[in-house]
Amino acid sequence: MAGQEPKAKSQQLRAVRGTRDILPPESALWNFVEAAARDVFRAYNFHEIRTPILEDLGLFQRAVGEETDVVGKEMFAWEDRARAESEKGQMLALRPENTAGVVRAYIEHKLWERPGLTKVFYIGPQFRRERPQKGRYRQFFQIGAEVIGPPANGSESAAVDAELLELLATFLDRLGISGWTLELNSIGCASDRARFNDALKQALSGVVEKMCVDCKRRAVTNPLRVFDCKVPADQPIIETLPKIADYLDEPCRAHFAAVRELLDAMSVAYTLNPRLVRGLDYYTRTAFEFIPRSGTLGAQNAILGGGRYDGLSESLGGPHAPGIGFAIGEDRLVMSLTESADAVAVKPDAYIAPLGSGMNKEAAKLARELRHHDAVIEMGDEGFKLKKSIETAVKLGARYVIIVGENEVKAGAFAVKRLDSGEQQNVPRAELAGFLTRPTR
Ligand code: HAM
Repeated sequence: MAGQEPKAKSQQLRAVRGTRDILPPESALWNFVEAAARDVFRAYNFHEIRTPILEDLGLFQRAVGEETDVVGKEMFAWEDRARAESEKGQMLALRPENTAGVVRAYIEHKLWERPGLTKVFYIGPQFRRERPQKGRYRQFFQIGAEVIGPPANGSESAAVDAELLELLATFLDRLGISGWTLELNSIGCASDRARFNDALKQALSGVVEKMCVDCKRRAVTNPLRVFDCKVPADQPIIETLPKIADYLDEPCRAHFAAVRELLDAMSVAYTLNPRLVRGLDYYTRTAFEFIPRSGTLGAQNAILGGGRYDGLSESLGGPHAPGIGFAIGEDRLVMSLTESADAVAVKPDAYIAPLGSGMNKEAAKLARELRHHDAVIEMGDEGFKLKKSIETAVKLGARYVIIVGENEVKAGAFAVKRLDSGEQQNVPRAELAGFLTRPTR
């Protein structure tokens, strides 16, 4: 348009760093994964929960822990505008994960009053201000599940842990993701942790001087978080530190043994990783990550993680309600699929080509009829030449073109062209929907 120069590149509006648009046809892969997840959750009697994306910052500080990278370094948090000048605004945060929100909802709505265990799943965006790279985004999606409840309803049982892990194995198998490894550990309960922290502090006192500034701080505030350190020079030192698995008390040892026994009985394969502590503070006992076949995800190798959090509800002011859950990184899961987006994308059964003036109306009536019978229909326009309509239909991957001209409407039968073979035949109006939706091969 005259006077409207395209904007200089620097002025162009773009998706915010670390966020992205998921466009068709790739979005079909996301739908495919989510539909498979919903099917699996259904079979295990999990029900959907949707918690707000926005929560009070304090929730994550208390649940996930201030010393964790997720809360200490990566939160999108700010002070909301105060209602009155004399007041302070509420501190808000975009959720970096969904377990804290689910447990808050469990407490807020007294979900323990419902029968059995609370078994919920969620699919939604999470936010972490990380350095973006392949498989790591600032807005990413998780598919997660949580099981929480009173101990009297069986929430502490090793059978719950094993069922959740078996669900995950089933889900990944169903998506055709093979070659994953389930890494498993137990990080004990609060009293084990206290003894382990003492031992860690002691071990660190001799070596921490040689470690990074973060580790120096962690050694004092929350020694377990030293295991989250990614600084290469610190790794040989971390290797020499005590292992949590050596500090488990008898009930925690027995619980872990029972989880493993159940997994063995169900033939769910796992590898013990005594160094796995997970990066969030709420974990107790069973902790796990699934690592896909090497290479698919570059440096970002965990496709999902989870574990028990038996003390989380109490630490947020709720009743004693042990729980366990997992969250799958959906972005990473989609990256590791072998399916192509094209193979799972929905394509039109037919492209309707109205021929001649006044035929848009007839085409619209026919499209309405066919769509009521679940056919996927794309529309041409009476202004298009037939050749153009056919070319467009081929590009869109439609199976048929239906020609809607005055003669066809009068005759009550339409010329239907099969695009892969070029065959053409007349199909009576009443049989058209059945004709379109039956498989061609
Ligand atoms: P998490 O290990 O922090 O656990 O995250 C789970 C998964 O989310 C990771 O394994 C990864 O696949 C994905 N993820 C994390 N950060 C990013 C990112 N920046 N970009 C892309 N994907 C990412 C949790 O969030 C816990 N709430 C899991 C849980 C549920 N534990 C108990 N219940």
